[in-house]
Amino acid sequence: MTEWFETLTGLQDRVWQLLKCGVADRHAPARQPTLATVGPDGRPEARTVVLRRVERSTALLEVYTDSLSDKMKSLKTSPWAALHVWEPKLDLQIRLQADVTPSEGDAVADRWDPLPEAARLSYGVVPPPGTPIDAALDYEKSADQGRFCVLTLALVHIDVVHLGEAHRRAAYRADDGWAGQWLVP
Ligand SMILES: Cc1cc2nc3c(=O)[nH]c(=O)nc-3n(C[C@H](O)[C@H](O)[C@H](O)COP(=O)(O)O)c2cc1C
Repeated sequence: MTEWFETLTGLQDRVWQLLKCGVADRHAPARQPTLATVGPDGRPEARTVVLRRVERSTALLEVYTDSLSDKMKSLKTSPWAALHVWEPKLDLQIRLQADVTPSEGDAVADRWDPLPEAARLSYGVVPPPGTPIDAALDYEKSADQGRFCVLTLALVHIDVVHLGEAHRRAAYRADDGWAGQWLVP
């Protein structure tokens, strides 16, 4: 029987399955991927985020953030991101590259409306994220819909490494229809 990691299609199907699990299951590894961007000074920067939406048919992912967070400044000059997930149970590394589009206000009201109050407090802290403060708790959380930003990640590249008895690596590109290509791991 052919295992899922032995074919380009099987690997890619598993990637999308794991990403979907990340949205549905708060304990899934893909729930909290690492999102990397390029800072205004050209340095790489990475942080944990929550994966909010995954759509395979359009190859789009969504992440929510505070519009005053530093990553927004980075995305203004370099509107690209990488996303990293390590799934230890499957010995699978997933690396994604994406073009990023931020959306705010009425355009994302349908994402804001269902958020519980506790979750809304992640968008609107005063003073804004990254502001130097005298003491650790010199800030106030507040829910501000005007600061709620949805980052849409349009995937352009997927790189997968599977560490089985044999190691396998595959890459998939949007511009060749996600056909897939084996690579040396
Ligand atoms: C488990 C976890 C989940 C997080 N989820 C998000 C998130 O979904 N969106 C977000 O903007 N920041 C999230 N953060 C905070 C970021 O990791 C980061 O500290 C913050 O966004 C500021 O990053 P920046 O200065 O690069 O903009 C999360 C942090 C942790 C530890």
